[in-house]
Amino acid sequence: MMFMTKSTLIETHGQPVSAQVRLQAARAAALVIDGGRSSDTAFSGVLSTHSLPGRDRALVKELALGTVRWFWTLEEILQRLLKTRIRNKDRDIYFLLLIGVYQLKFMRIPAHAAVDATVQACELAGKPWAKSLVNGVLRNYARRSAEVDEQLSSDAALSAHPDWIRVRITAAWPQAWKQILEANNDHPPMCLRVNLGRIGRTDYLGHLQKAGIGAVLDPHVATGLIVKKPVAVESLPGFSEGWASVQDTAAQLVVPALSLQPGERVLDACAAPGSKTAHMLESQPALSEVIAIDIDSERVERLRQTLDRLQLRARCLAVDVTQVDAWWDGEPFDCVLIDAPCSGSGVIRRHPDIKHNRQPADVDALCQVQESLLESLWPLVASGGRLMYVTCSVFPEENQHQIRAFMDRHAEAIVEPLPMLKGVDCAEGRQTLPGVHDMDGFFFSMLRHRAH
Ligand SMILES: C[S@@+](CC[C@H](N)C(=O)[O-])C[C@H]1O[C@@H](n2cnc3c(N)ncnc32)[C@H](O)[C@@H]1O
Repeated sequence: MMFMTKSTLIETHGQPVSAQVRLQAARAAALVIDGGRSSDTAFSGVLSTHSLPGRDRALVKELALGTVRWFWTLEEILQRLLKTRIRNKDRDIYFLLLIGVYQLKFMRIPAHAAVDATVQACELAGKPWAKSLVNGVLRNYARRSAEVDEQLSSDAALSAHPDWIRVRITAAWPQAWKQILEANNDHPPMCLRVNLGRIGRTDYLGHLQKAGIGAVLDPHVATGLIVKKPVAVESLPGFSEGWASVQDTAAQLVVPALSLQPGERVLDACAAPGSKTAHMLESQPALSEVIAIDIDSERVERLRQTLDRLQLRARCLAVDVTQVDAWWDGEPFDCVLIDAPCSGSGVIRRHPDIKHNRQPADVDALCQVQESLLESLWPLVASGGRLMYVTCSVFPEENQHQIRAFMDRHAEAIVEPLPMLKGVDCAEGRQTLPGVHDMDGFFFSMLRHRAH
């Protein structure tokens, strides 16, 4: 049993579970926004120290992720409501205020319940003096929200994006930027990939319905289902037996576009946690060999677990794939997939922490890594073979520009059209955009090695 601190005792035995939820949500949001952590790390940090029931844990996540997602909007609202600046040593109270405004603006929790729980959280935070401040600010907003919202004026507040991301998206997608920014602030759908080697898609849909989980066929991928109201993966029928996996529709487009053939030798160069390796093996069980590599050994462990759950086999290596001499046996690959590390600017709706934790310099550094992956692995492609380059980014620097520069260096490469894929067609590949067909933003480029 977990050691119980005074606050967990209060929370589990006493009235203010709802206050504890607000406090933990404020702490998780602060870990992301001020602390630069990923939301997953922040949640495992705060939730491991408190034994909250499942429904309350879900509410902690909703409040924290919502605050992370809408931070710039909430911040400007608070600027208009606060008479004096909150001191740095009281950032915990500032984050409770953000959580409070988020509930009032974006959630259907009755205003009095949201305000009371947030006010009580000041007590749990050991700052009872802040109760009247939080009460006053939140009640003021509850009364005057229409008027205050009307006054929001900065682009950051109106779009809920940091300026640098908004400016890059606006410049890259002059027709679609508004839709992209709006989609980035949406809750993402829960998409499933059915393991067709084990069960048919409509049969699996039937199992979901029997389990009381509403879902529909995904019209864009043969393997896909969309769950109407997201659920914990453990409650998916046959999940531990490998009947289905969670994967966005756009990500499910990658493997069919590889057209894998029996007997082919395949390299998945940036493989962890293994969604696409698994999809390859599910869709073409007669490959001669799949080598799945990732530089991060902890993530390779997750890759192995993914394959074990789905009862699939690949050669998994934890190594820097660009250090080719360290792992390659000299046998060329018919197909190489580079699912490259990238800014994640196409998956902001799933990972709103990206808005806080990425900086322009990171994109420059990632572009260098992407170039090095392309240059190191291209010589491993067999004559007539293919390399697919994929990112979950909507920044051209990581996508079209990267491939254009590669083509300038390699006359022996051809960009193949990908007519079977959704998305915007361009000379270098295809791009799905967040929100269009309710997909994530992915870039796909298929490079064919001219046969000698
Ligand atoms: C977008 S993720 C891959 C997701 C994975 N393909 C999937 O579908 O589950 C990019 C991965 O590239 C890995 N990576 C980055 N640089 C690498 C390198 N030099 N060698 C091997 N893996 C690398 C990262 O650790 C990360 O796991």
